[in-house]
Amino acid sequence: MTPVLVADGEVLEGNIVAMQELAREHGVALRPHAKGHRAAWVAARQLTAGAVGVGVATLAEAAIFLEAGVGDVLLTTILPPGRAADAVALGGAGALTVVVHTPELAAAFAAAADGAGVVLPVLVDVDVGQHRGGAPTPAAALAAADAIAAAPSLRMRGVQGYDGHLQGIADPVARADGHAGAMARLDAVLDVLAGAGHALDVVTTAGTATAPLAAVHPRVTELQPGSYALMDRAYAQIGGVAFAQAAFVLTTVTAVLGPGEVIVDAGSRAISSDLGLPQVDGLDATWTVAGDEHGRITGEVGRLRPGDVLRLIPSHTDTTVVLHGAVVPAPG
Ligand SMILES: Cc1ncc(COP(=O)(O)O)c(C=O)c1O
Repeated sequence: MTPVLVADGEVLEGNIVAMQELAREHGVALRPHAKGHRAAWVAARQLTAGAVGVGVATLAEAAIFLEAGVGDVLLTTILPPGRAADAVALGGAGALTVVVHTPELAAAFAAAADGAGVVLPVLVDVDVGQHRGGAPTPAAALAAADAIAAAPSLRMRGVQGYDGHLQGIADPVARADGHAGAMARLDAVLDVLAGAGHALDVVTTAGTATAPLAAVHPRVTELQPGSYALMDRAYAQIGGVAFAQAAFVLTTVTAVLGPGEVIVDAGSRAISSDLGLPQVDGLDATWTVAGDEHGRITGEVGRLRPGDVLRLIPSHTDTTVVLHGAVVPAPG
C-alpha cells in the first residue's frame, strides 16, 4: 500500500550503531530524539544498542513511548502551564521528565505533581543560542532551578541546552565556531547552578550535526540527536554528517502523461517540502506537488508504467513522519 514512509532496516541499524559508538567512545549517554520516527520498534532497536531513553517533542509522542514501556522519556519542549496536569498524568511513576524555564512553570508542575501524589523529574531548559524559550541567562536558569529544588514534588535532574540553531550550518568550521559559543553559554549556567549546589546529573544537548562536537565537551553527559537514525536530504547536504539514508516514501505510478512525465500517488499529504523538494531515488528526475494525493515526476521516467513503485527521499523526515503517523519497516 502506498504512499507509505518506510525505513530500510539494515541502513537504520548501521546509523543506530554508529551514533551509539560515538557516544560510547566518549563516555556519554545517548538519548535519541524520537520525533523523527515516532515508532516504538525503532526506539526498541536504539535502546537495545545502548540508548538510555528517548526524547520526544509532544505529549502525544510521549504517550507512544511510555505506553511501549520506555522507562526514561524526556519531553524536550516547554509546555504551557495549563498542560502540566496532562504531563503528570502521563508520566505516572517517574518515567517522564519535563523541562522548565521559569519559576512559574516549575510551580505549575509542582502543583500538578503534588495533586497526583507523584514526584516529577525535571530539567532546566537553557537557551544556548536558539532563542525559543529556554532560560536566557544564568540568573534565569538559577531562578528556575531554585524553584524546582524547593518543591518536594519535583526532582531536579539537571540541564537541557539544545543547539537547534546550529544543525543547519553546512560549513563544519562555522558550525564548530557556533558550537563553542553555545557551550560557553551552557558552561556559564552550569557554573552558577553547581555553585548553588544544584543536582546536575544530566547535561543533555546536541542534534545530529553537533553530536561529535558535544561528545567531547567535558561537562556534557548526554547527547540527544534524532535525525541520524532515518536521515533526510537536508541533513545529507550538510558537511561532515556521515549517516546513510534509511527513510523513503514509497509511491506508485498512477498515470503516464508522456515520455518524460508521470503522476504518482504521493502528493503533499505524503511528503513534506518545508526544507525543499524530496529527491527521486535512483532516477534523474524531479518530483513536484500535483495535489494533496498526487505528485508529478518529470525527467528520466520513460520506462515507468502504472503500478511501478518508486522511492522518494524526504527533504525533511521530521515533518514527513507526521503525515504517516510513524515510520514502518520496509517490505521484504
Ligand atoms: C530539543 C531537540 N533535541 C534534539 C533534536 C534532534 O535533532 P536532530 O534531528 O537535528 O538530530 C531536536 C530536533 O528537532 C530537538 O528539537
